Order: sequence, then C-alpha cells, then structure tokens
Amino acid sequence: MFCCWGPRWGWVPCAPTPWLLLSLLVCAAPFGLLGEETRQVSMEVISGWPNPQNLLHIRAVGSNSTLHYVWSSLGPPAVVLVATNTTQSVLSVNWSLLLSPDPTGGLMVLPKSSIQFSSALVFTRLLEFNSTKVSEGTQPPGKAYPPYSLAEFSWNNITDSLDLATLSAVFQGHPVDDPTGAFVNGSLAFKVQAFTRSSRPAQPPRLLHTADVCQLEVALVGAAPRGKHSLFGLEVATLGPGPDCPSLKEQRSMDDEYAPAVFQLNELLWGSSPSGFMQWRPVAFSQQQRARESALPCQISSLNPTLAYSLPHSPIVQAFFGSQNNFCAFNLTFGAPTGPGYWDQHYLCWSMLLGVGFPPVDTLSPLVLGVMAVALGAPGLMLLGGGLFLLLRHKQYSEYQSIN
Ligand SMILES: *[C@@H]1O[C@H](CO)[C@@H](O)[C@H](O)[C@H]1NC(C)=O
Ligand SMILES: *[C@@H]1O[C@H](CO)[C@@H](O)[C@H](O)[C@H]1NC(C)=O
Ligand SMILES: *[C@@H]1O[C@H](CO)[C@@H](O)[C@H](O)[C@H]1NC(C)=O
Ligand SMILES: *[C@@H]1O[C@H](CO)[C@@H](O)[C@H](O)[C@H]1NC(C)=O
Ligand SMILES: *[C@@H]1O[C@H](CO)[C@@H](O)[C@H](O)[C@H]1NC(C)=O
Repeated sequence: MFCCWGPRWGWVPCAPTPWLLLSLLVCAAPFGLLGEETRQVSMEVISGWPNPQNLLHIRAVGSNSTLHYVWSSLGPPAVVLVATNTTQSVLSVNWSLLLSPDPTGGLMVLPKSSIQFSSALVFTRLLEFNSTKVSEGTQPPGKAYPPYSLAEFSWNNITDSLDLATLSAVFQGHPVDDPTGAFVNGSLAFKVQAFTRSSRPAQPPRLLHTADVCQLEVALVGAAPRGKHSLFGLEVATLGPGPDCPSLKEQRSMDDEYAPAVFQLNELLWGSSPSGFMQWRPVAFSQQQRARESALPCQISSLNPTLAYSLPHSPIVQAFFGSQNNFCAFNLTFGAPTGPGYWDQHYLCWSMLLGVGFPPVDTLSPLVLGVMAVALGAPGLMLLGGGLFLLLRHKQYSEYQSIN
C-alpha cells in the first residue's frame, strides 16, 4: 500500500514509533470498508441432465449481501459475477434455453431488483509467440503463432475435481483438434477457488484475499511449444455494466517478503470503487516450485473495445447479459525472450483474484515491519543521542562563555 511508503518515509526519522503506528492505522482503515469479514460459501456443480455441461456455482452469503460466481466451460471458459444486496438471492438456470442457439435469459439471479453489480470475464484464446530475435519489453512479444481457441477445447468433468474442503474445482482441457499432437502430454487448467475469510495462500505470489473474492490459477503444463523460445499468453474479454472498458491501475508496492522482487500490483476496475475488480501481481512462474528463480514477468496489453461477434461466443455470458456488445479485450503475456521461461520445464502458472467491493489492500508483513522499526529506530536514536549531545555541549559552551 502506497500510504506506508512514498516520500513520508524520510520525514520522521526520530519518531519511529508514533509514525509507524499512524501509518499502520492509515493502512488498516480500508479494511473497515471491505464488504464482509466472513461469508458462508457454498460450491455446487449444477448438472444439465440430459446434456451434462460444466456449470459451477459459487454462492457466498454475507450478513446483508450475496455474491454469485458462475464458472463454466460451455463455450470458452468464462465466469459471470453478480453481487446482490440480500442474503436470499438465488441462481436460476434454464438448461433448455442455455443450450439453445439464443441462450438469452437462460441464467438469472433472482430477485433481479437485488442486483447491485454484474460483470463477466471470458478466456477466449491461448496465445503463443515466437520470441527469438525480439528485444525485451516489446508488445506483442514476437510473431504470433496461430492461437488456440479455448472455445474449441474439450474439458474434463469438474465434478471429479470438486473439493469442498478447500472450496476449489479445476477445469482442465486440451484442444479437440490437435493435428500436431502438441497437447498429447499437455493440458491447460483453470483452478477456481473461493474463500470464507480473509487470508493469504502459502504459495507465491501470495495475494491477500478476502471472503469477497474468487481466485483463479491458470496453468499450462506439458504442452509442446511450437518454437524454441515460445512465450504464451491469454486473450481475455470482459463485459461490464457500462460501455467503458475497465481501467487499469498499476500500484507500486514494496519488495516485501510476501512477494519478493515484485514491486507492482495490477488492478482492473469496472468504474470507481466499490465495483468489480480483477487483481494480480505481474508475475508468472515457470516451475511448480514458485520462487524468484522461476518468476516470469506478466504483461498486459491495452484494453480495446471489441464487438461480441469477433469473439468466441460464450453461452453463459449471453444467457445472463443478453446480446450485449460492450466487450473489452486484452492480452496477457507471460515471460520475456531471455531468462527463465516455459521452455525450461514446459510449465507455466499465473494467478489472479476476481471480486467485488474494494480490492484487498496489501499490508506489510510482520517481518518487514520489524526490519523497518529497527531501521527507522536506529537513526532515530542516533538523532536523539546527537541532539542531547549538542544540547549538553551548548550548555557547556555557555557555561564556558559565562566563565570568561
Ligand atoms: C460429471 O460426472 C457426474 C457423475 O460423476 C455426472 O452426473 C455429470 O453429468 C458429469 N458431468 C459432465 C459435464 O460430464
Ligand atoms: C451491510 O452490513 C454492513 C455491516 O455488516 C453495514 O456496514 C452496511 O451498511 C450494510 N449495508 C446495507 C446496504 O445495509
Ligand atoms: C425454459 O425456457 C423455455 C423457453 O423460454 C420455457 O418454455 C420453459 O418453460 C422454461 N423452463 C423453466 C423450468 O422455466
Ligand atoms: C509425450 O510423452 C511421451 C512419453 O513421455 C514422449 O515419448 C513423447 O515424445 C511426448 N510427446 C510430446 C508431443 O511431447
Ligand atoms: C492478442 O494477441 C493476438 C496475437 O498477437 C492478436 O491477434 C489479438 O488482436 C490481440 N488481442 C488484443 C485484445 O490485443
């Protein structure tokens, strides 16, 4: 959080304790504004018998609100996110409509009047770029190979991966048509997880989450790249309440023990807070053992308004929003031409949070606070000591003067 850092740092070197306390209070304030401390979360696979399709409903009930996250691999992987101001709102699915050519109205959250906010994300394509002879930081990071359309993937049955203890489920897929056999040993997985309270995962990037968010981990494992230096990316489309694209906010953060060497926290915000948000650290990992050595930069392209017909059709998004056209699309790319990469172990993993309300605010880890207290305390003591010394000297000097 910027309020802890910034230029104030050097200002109050001799009063570390009150200053630290003050900044802690300032940093802690946004927590009071967060939606709910805890939520009662249920996770359910809604079956579409006799045409089974993966439809995962996460319902998170708070003291006076309910959040609904509906994830599906019907079409490209997508999520519809709905926030309501009642504890009673329910999801209603009309399968015959949802599976029809015009699914509008097939997915509803009732009562409609309780809806405070709704939006959607669609993961449209897996991108691959040839980054040989490309200089660092260029966008796109090389010549694009033909992308894999995620609408043309075949997905596992999420019922098998549903884990109610950790509130998680995994959509794992591979291309239906795979003429080159690139995915013979490989898959793309979307692991969705919900939370009942605020916490921080054990694995980097250790994004702080609250009960208001859903975490997504995307992992590409074992797929054969088409070049020696292939960089992968994801094309994502969003649909928000208005015609504007969500705004990108890049927050500086410090090199904290929670996220070593990652100085940034990125957010996409639909309108001004509190609304919907997507939050991630611009880092991906090229090994299951997520560490500094396997950290890859993650870059986001500009957000471009995009017409629905140019994107793979997402039945659940149309089912909830109707035939809306105000999509925005952007690309995320993982890795740089040099350094660690997917090529090391044919492994890539990236995670993000999706939520409503105020995005979780990172505070400093106790270790870093301790280090700061010591670092700020030492000069403080020295100054204090120096001041006393000068005072005493001055006194001595005056006494000396008076003697003369
Ligand atoms: C997944 O498996 C369950 C039973 O294990 C079945 O009821 C459901 O229809 C299957 N879903 C899909 C999408 O195949
Ligand atoms: C919901 O409850 C929180 C505290 O539990 C309260 O601060 C907030 O004003 C309530 N919101 C509404 C819309 O009643
Ligand atoms: C689902 O939608 C169809 C078409 O609008 C309608 O005929 C049917 O009654 C609906 N089913 C339910 C259970 O509401
Ligand atoms: C898949 O795995 C098998 C056995 O490990 C290996 O022989 C084969 O080359 C792999 N195929 C691809 C496309 O990676
Ligand atoms: C994402 O990258 C692909 C491949 O370079 C490109 O065709 C597509 O237009 C990009 N999409 C956006 C939204 O920038």
